[in-house]
Amino acid sequence: MTNKNLIDLEALSVDQIAKLIKKAKKIMQSPADYRHACDGKILATLFYEPSTRTQMSFQTAMLKLGGRTIGFDNPMNSSVSKGENLKDTISVIGGYADIIAIRHPVEGTAKAASLYSGVPLINCGDGGHLHPTQTLTDIVTLSCEKGRLDHMKIGVCGDLLNGRTVHSLIKTLAKYEGNSFVLISTKELSVPLYIIDILEKNNCKYEISHSLSDAISDLDVLYMTRIQRERFKSEDEYEAQKNVFVLDREKLDRARDDMIILHPLPRVNEITVDIDDDPRALYFKQAQYGMYGRMALILLLLQDEDFVIASRETQLCSQHCNNPKCVTQSEAYLPNLSYRKLGMQMCDFCDKRID
Ligand code: CP
Repeated sequence: MTNKNLIDLEALSVDQIAKLIKKAKKIMQSPADYRHACDGKILATLFYEPSTRTQMSFQTAMLKLGGRTIGFDNPMNSSVSKGENLKDTISVIGGYADIIAIRHPVEGTAKAASLYSGVPLINCGDGGHLHPTQTLTDIVTLSCEKGRLDHMKIGVCGDLLNGRTVHSLIKTLAKYEGNSFVLISTKELSVPLYIIDILEKNNCKYEISHSLSDAISDLDVLYMTRIQRERFKSEDEYEAQKNVFVLDREKLDRARDDMIILHPLPRVNEITVDIDDDPRALYFKQAQYGMYGRMALILLLLQDEDFVIASRETQLCSQHCNNPKCVTQSEAYLPNLSYRKLGMQMCDFCDKRID
């Protein structure tokens, strides 16, 4: 079967990303031309975890394209509360809808769901793993606001360990020439090693910083993130991290006039509210760009036969993934699918090393 499932933005080529951005810009320029583009089509939004932007921007995107939406934003109001597994839910919804957007707190769930979906399926966030359409949002914003995706110095700040948006963004921007990164976090919340491997493999320059004040003066882009309270083992551990990096007026005064501030949102306290009126603060505009990016994605997945997403070569493995956060722990019927990377056996669902 042709792969039309967007699980990881890394599966898209630079040309495909350019095509998405071009389509998003065309829609922004003349939205009326797309008012009936998806007449008769149905999007299912299956949100097993809370969301404002991703869920509503997907719903709005489909409505603006002339389609309709079904779904849930609380699985306890669905038959999941009676013990229905993911496979059965997806097998059924795939018979109702033309395209599925799914968010789930467990890593690898979107990939698992795609095995049982007869229609295109989009990962809207799977635990601390990936959030490809947030990255789509970010790169549409960068393309519109900076005019390029290359030769930028990007500071990413906050919860770089659990922040799936940061992982997806770094993986994508590392493909473009001349980008460098400043990784600003506490030692406890630093990026996972596999992200460092990606930066090194792509010959991307990067620095590790523990001071936002020191790092800010030289950046083209500052990407702030929330400390992900829901991913901590204890409240004490969260409390120790929550106020470490706060972008306030004093720090922003050290930044360049052409630096832009992005944030996937929701914000807690990591950007003080008085900064919202600064022309460099683009996070609300960014959320709007995301809707256009998602309109473009829906259109290309449903209507462009050439927009096929690359599938990686997988094999059945005798070993079970032992990542406690992997979907294979809770959905026991899943096959032990793996792929080879740099001589290692990796879980096809959560991308963690198996052997
Ligand atoms: N950025 C983002 O994913 O926001 P929501 O959690 O509100 O969807």
